[in-house]
Amino acid sequence: MKNGQIWLDVDGKDIQAHGGCILQYRDRFYWYGENKDAPNCPGRRRVDVIGVSCYSSGNLVDWKYEGLVLKAESDPESPLHFSKVVERPKVLYNEKTNRFVMWMHLDSPDYSFSSVGIAAAEQPTGPFRLIKTTHPNRQESRDMTLYRDEDGTAYLIHAKDWNKTMNIARLNGEYTDLDGTYVSVMADQEREAPALCKHGGQYYMITSGCTGWAPNSALYAVSPQIMGHWKLIDNPCEGPNSRKTFFGQSSFLFTVNQKHYLMLDHWIPENLQKSGYSILPVTFDGDGAMTVRWVDTWNGPEE
Ligand code: DGJ
Repeated sequence: MKNGQIWLDVDGKDIQAHGGCILQYRDRFYWYGENKDAPNCPGRRRVDVIGVSCYSSGNLVDWKYEGLVLKAESDPESPLHFSKVVERPKVLYNEKTNRFVMWMHLDSPDYSFSSVGIAAAEQPTGPFRLIKTTHPNRQESRDMTLYRDEDGTAYLIHAKDWNKTMNIARLNGEYTDLDGTYVSVMADQEREAPALCKHGGQYYMITSGCTGWAPNSALYAVSPQIMGHWKLIDNPCEGPNSRKTFFGQSSFLFTVNQKHYLMLDHWIPENLQKSGYSILPVTFDGDGAMTVRWVDTWNGPEE
């Protein structure tokens, strides 16, 4: 897979899973993301909502299309109406309920509604049904991700106040709602596209700046506790084009065989359906400093 370009599934079709995430369940990986398989709306930097796609793979390289697991709806009152915004879907498996739970950014076309949607399915390949939409802890939510800790506790990390500040909000035991506990971190730092991982007992969060679809400098932050005092450190990217995150934007961090990987979207605002992907290795030095370097290809995780 050539990093920075749109990737093909095993049938030779463009992978439509933008702003996505990867879930490992049993011996397979599932990649969920925004299906943008249509031309931009004339003169606009948007594609009407189609839904959330799912792909599955045994090796993170050969991806089989599993279909649209959450579909846009034709009812104009529905939060999933095609005229609205459905972005950055993230899926966790809940061991207590044996269900797959998806959280996503649901918004009005002008991004003023700023809510999250919660959907659930019995199978990783769906179908997912929308349970509800909410303003988490009565606050705005735009770019977001989920993080599941080693003890099974899960968190919603979401940009609030027109992306000025990030909130970390704990989910209930079923992952179907918030439990009311949250912290606000990186106040007024104007970050979006959060992605989290844990290394050496520390939590790491990569975010982008807020420049629409245009690339900017990533930053990472570290905290010894997920709901603790996060410290912004620096841009983890090194080498040519590192100040523009290699012309990408963070979508997800995942860990396989104790190695961490950062997934990027390479948005093409005038033709969003052709936006590309990258998966780049993430390394840490002895002091815990995080580095992301460009590699030309993604050939699957290291053994
Ligand atoms: C940046 C966000 O990270 C994307 O998910 C999307 O909302 C674009 N902004 C829209 O301009």
